Amino acid sequence: MAEPQTDPFARPPWRVLIAGCGYVGAELGRRLVAAGHQVWGLRRRPAALPAGVALLQADLAQPATLRDLPPRLDGVIYAAAADRGDDDAYAAIYHHGLAHLLDALVARGQRPRRVIFVSSTSVYGQAHGEWVDESSPAEPERALSRHLLAGETLLAQSPFPGTAVRLSGIYGPGRTRLIEQVRNGHARLQGGPPAFTNRIHRDDCAGLLAHLLTLGGAQALYLGSDSDPASQDEVLRWLAAQLGITLPPPGEAAATDARHHSGQNKRCSNRRLLASGYRLIYPTFREGYGALLQGHDAPQ
Ligand SMILES: NC(=O)c1ccc[n+]([C@@H]2O[C@H](COP(=O)([O-])OP(=O)(O)OC[C@H]3O[C@@H](n4cnc5c(N)ncnc54)[C@H](OP(=O)(O)O)[C@@H]3O)[C@@H](O)[C@H]2O)c1
Repeated sequence: MAEPQTDPFARPPWRVLIAGCGYVGAELGRRLVAAGHQVWGLRRRPAALPAGVALLQADLAQPATLRDLPPRLDGVIYAAAADRGDDDAYAAIYHHGLAHLLDALVARGQRPRRVIFVSSTSVYGQAHGEWVDESSPAEPERALSRHLLAGETLLAQSPFPGTAVRLSGIYGPGRTRLIEQVRNGHARLQGGPPAFTNRIHRDDCAGLLAHLLTLGGAQALYLGSDSDPASQDEVLRWLAAQLGITLPPPGEAAATDARHHSGQNKRCSNRRLLASGYRLIYPTFREGYGALLQGHDAPQ
């Protein structure tokens, strides 16, 4: 499978800070280092980061810990995630944490060429199977997602060239809940008309963020999702077929299906992302889960 295109503006080495260097951030760091960039990964707790990514221990909720950022940063990617699903935690990370980081950059006179804020497609409240893109109204069903919108607004008002990237549901190595549910017999089909779900492989999250970071003329907003907003039933059926497992018919214990509580049913368009020149490593769940089932990832 082809790797994403590199952009002619991406002359390494850029000095890049990844604020919130976890599941996506670490893979992003690995890719940026491989492309010749100099990378720092910021997080609170010590952790083994990919070779070449320097650990920067700091707390985005504690501005005093952000005083000694690496100087002369060319790129900043904010990929921190709330560690709890409550209002305080969301506000602290997606709004106030970003504000603290932007303040720290301004205070030191830093002039990054691009700052990216990783947001989420959960900002869309559409739930009737509509296509949504960057121009669609973002009126979240969950009040928590308003903090993501607040972060996006903050970045747009900052003095830096900013890009918000709304990712859909992330899966990949170690995030294989659906595969496990099919394997252990807990997967349940919903039945009825399709309720569309949206996903993106971790490697594409990292790949598209690296692509947008150094893309000349990147826009202020992109959706990051694969090309097939299939229903969860379709994904489950496909996984079951791959694993040679028969799923129980729809309806049995369907009330345990998380979608009943999530209100998901929209289709995220990646047209703008693809038009920017990014080529998905895993265009649909079939390639992405296929690689996971075979226990290998795409060539790096
Ligand atoms: N999961 C999904 O399906 C999904 C969907 C759409 C969008 N997203 C977004 O995608 C981004 C990346 O997600 P992910 O799965 O890579 O998250 P993750 O694995 O949980 O990583 C988040 C990182 O943020 C760090 N962090 C959290 N609070 C911090 C703080 N106060 N100060 C400094 N670092 C902090 C964590 O490290 P420490 O704990 O060591 O601080 C961790 O390294 C997030 O913005 C998330 O909201 C996720």
